[in-house]
Amino acid sequence: MGKLRVGVIFGGRSGEHEVSLASARSVMGAMDPEKYEVVPIGITKEGAWIASGDPMAALTEGDLSLSAPATLLPDPSRRGLMRLEEEGGRTILSLLAELDVVFPVLHGPYGEDGTVQGLLDLAGVPYVGAGVTGSAVGMDKAIFKRVMQAHGLPVVDYLLVMRREWEADPEGVMDRIEAKLGYPVFTKPANLGSSVGVNKCHDREGLARGLADAAQYDRKLLVEAAVPQAREIEVSVLGNDDPIASVPGEIIPSREFYSYAAKYLDEGEQASELLIPAPLPPEVTERVRELAVEAYRAIDCAGMARADFLLSGETGALYVNELNTIPGFTKISMYPKLWEASGIPYSQLIDRLIELALERHADRMRNRTTYRPEEE
Ligand SMILES: Nc1ncnc2c1ncn2[C@@H]1O[C@H](COP(=O)(O)OP(=O)(O)O)[C@@H](O)[C@H]1O
Ligand SMILES: [Mg+2]
Repeated sequence: MGKLRVGVIFGGRSGEHEVSLASARSVMGAMDPEKYEVVPIGITKEGAWIASGDPMAALTEGDLSLSAPATLLPDPSRRGLMRLEEEGGRTILSLLAELDVVFPVLHGPYGEDGTVQGLLDLAGVPYVGAGVTGSAVGMDKAIFKRVMQAHGLPVVDYLLVMRREWEADPEGVMDRIEAKLGYPVFTKPANLGSSVGVNKCHDREGLARGLADAAQYDRKLLVEAAVPQAREIEVSVLGNDDPIASVPGEIIPSREFYSYAAKYLDEGEQASELLIPAPLPPEVTERVRELAVEAYRAIDCAGMARADFLLSGETGALYVNELNTIPGFTKISMYPKLWEASGIPYSQLIDRLIELALERHADRMRNRTTYRPEEE
């Protein structure tokens, strides 16, 4: 058998573009060259696809001449990555590389939210991670909470506010929030990540600032009761129909909460700390691992996800906060570190994810897409 050609997609139209580059560098560096032929595929912040040459360098250095325009067609009969060439006012398409499987290493909107997954489904290319539904539900914090509630899984008290409502009647919206949740609360855009647009609000003034900030990023704004003395517990989940959970880890944020700066900017002594395994009583460990798998199944996830929890240090209450369907994937990121601590080293984890992608695709191909009533 020849090597598997794996397209690794990185960058993208998201605030988490740089994080994606770091994750993808680690992933590509750890893929066994005996087994895989890596086809790096970059997406610029404007959404242009590039491949061939060195798309990673092109994005890192902001010099697109280091790579070349490419695209993927939604037509499965023209499977493969296409090169785009401009010639005399025409655009010419030619096959650049066949792809056996794709590993989208894209965080946030336009990558982790089901959009790229939809394109890959149309193109008929197997891919790592959740499908359209799991990705979309994992991305939208408001829909996600509703799905958790429908499955009886614990989430914090919250209110969903539409940007239109907030802009039309800010005082009325804040009155409603104060009556239902009091202070402190967290405000966040429904569809984002990396704590961008997330604020902790202690009073009405802070609330107005928080909502205005979140409204820059989304038309759906989430307001949540702050978990008292929140501890941040995370579990890695892996699998398709029979997902397994890793040991839990804990994050000790370097700031008042796990903000963008606490995630990516604070370094050395100042950096946020990862504790693996999380120092939890055995019954709490078991409970978070169970909840992680239940939440994973509830959103119809596949491949992988990192399940994030908030555990109140004051009341002991445990809440499902979110599922990240494409979690940070550098060698020092929580998702792979938790697997390492659970007996699956980094490059084996990549092997397993690719296997799961192929299995899921094969399972999907079993579905009939035609129906002839006369057969009944
Ligand atoms: N309800 C809450 N109670 C306490 N802390 C919270 C709450 N919501 C968010 N946070 C803090 O804000 C961080 C980012 O919020 P989160 O919902 O995880 O957004 P993101 O998708 O950007 O990671 C969390 O890791 C946590 O530190
Ligand atoms: Mg988070």
